[in-house]
Amino acid sequence: MIGKPVGIWGTGMYVPERVLSNAELEKMVDTNDEWIVTRTGIKERRIASAEQASSDLAYHASVEALANAGITAEDLDLIIVATITPDMAFPSTSCILQDKLGAKKAAAFDLSAACSGFIYGLANAANFIATGIYKHVLVVGTECLSKITDYTDRNTCILFGDGAGAVVLGEVEEGRGFRSFELGADGSGGPLLTAAGGGSRNPISQEVLESKKQFIYMAGKEVFKFAVKIMGSAGEEALRKAGLDKTDIDLLVPHQANFRIIQSSLERLSLPEDKCMINLNKYGNMSAASIPVALAEANKEGRIKPGDTLLLVGFGGGLTWGATVLVW
Ligand code: UT7
Repeated sequence: MIGKPVGIWGTGMYVPERVLSNAELEKMVDTNDEWIVTRTGIKERRIASAEQASSDLAYHASVEALANAGITAEDLDLIIVATITPDMAFPSTSCILQDKLGAKKAAAFDLSAACSGFIYGLANAANFIATGIYKHVLVVGTECLSKITDYTDRNTCILFGDGAGAVVLGEVEEGRGFRSFELGADGSGGPLLTAAGGGSRNPISQEVLESKKQFIYMAGKEVFKFAVKIMGSAGEEALRKAGLDKTDIDLLVPHQANFRIIQSSLERLSLPEDKCMINLNKYGNMSAASIPVALAEANKEGRIKPGDTLLLVGFGGGLTWGATVLVW
């Protein structure tokens, strides 16, 4: 990384109260707990209430992150929200969050990179601070995936959950903070994972609603193959750019999509399971919120010590991927 050293000052997370268990899904679609657990590792996920939107989840996670960082909303210079389930087309969820937090001097924008969105957000934020443009940046991954999930489609509805994770970034002492970023995209794979309805290509219409284009469509097997390949290669590339080796990793914080994908990343990086944060059993796949929620939970559980080397790595719709190495 060029410029000032930048790191994470504080973390926060929020998940809605409502739990949707595999047992409940058994009553909704032709599935069963055993299939879901063995194929994905997911046991339950959280679902936002009818009144809750992504900015509401983001607000709670951000308040916790600000408190953990020891700064106030008024100290923020910039808010970046990564989401594929914004409150609305515009204004941006980050502007709605800025107002809720009272972060009066903060600029605000949303970022769309699906499940890789949080890593993309970190890369943006770190560069604003490293170059001296801003001092304090809030990066949030927040999703209400339940609002774009078809609960009659067993291929997707067993996977997704709602939640938000947030971090505050600022300058840190030399030797700490972000060491590298590896971001990528392959737009040719876009149709494999998409919610195609409601934008300028397919504006909302009776036809769009009848064809269920407002919901997530996923070609699971193809995305699985891509994920297994890219999680390993993106992680290795981030390590190479940081001048570090697999053996330097103290904690891997992967995107929480499927336990089998995480397992293959562990094998590729020659890491034991106890060096990996896994919480998808409780929350399912929360897209942009998965990595920051896993990071915040690891921090709360005391699994991260000052000086630890972390590898964060994710993949998702776009197709996109992102990885970062940082010293806590
Ligand atoms: O954040 C990024 C987004 N997404 C992902 O990372 C997801 C990547 N993909 C996956 O995690 C996996 O592909 C899935 C979990 C979605 C599916 O697992 P799979 O091992 O690839 O299963 P499959 O699609 O090959 O399906 C195997 C069988 C099929 O039956 P047949 O054709 O073998 O008779 C499916 O119809 O399992 C059936 N099946 C189900 N059975 C019970 C598919 N979904 C279900 C279900 N319950 N929910």
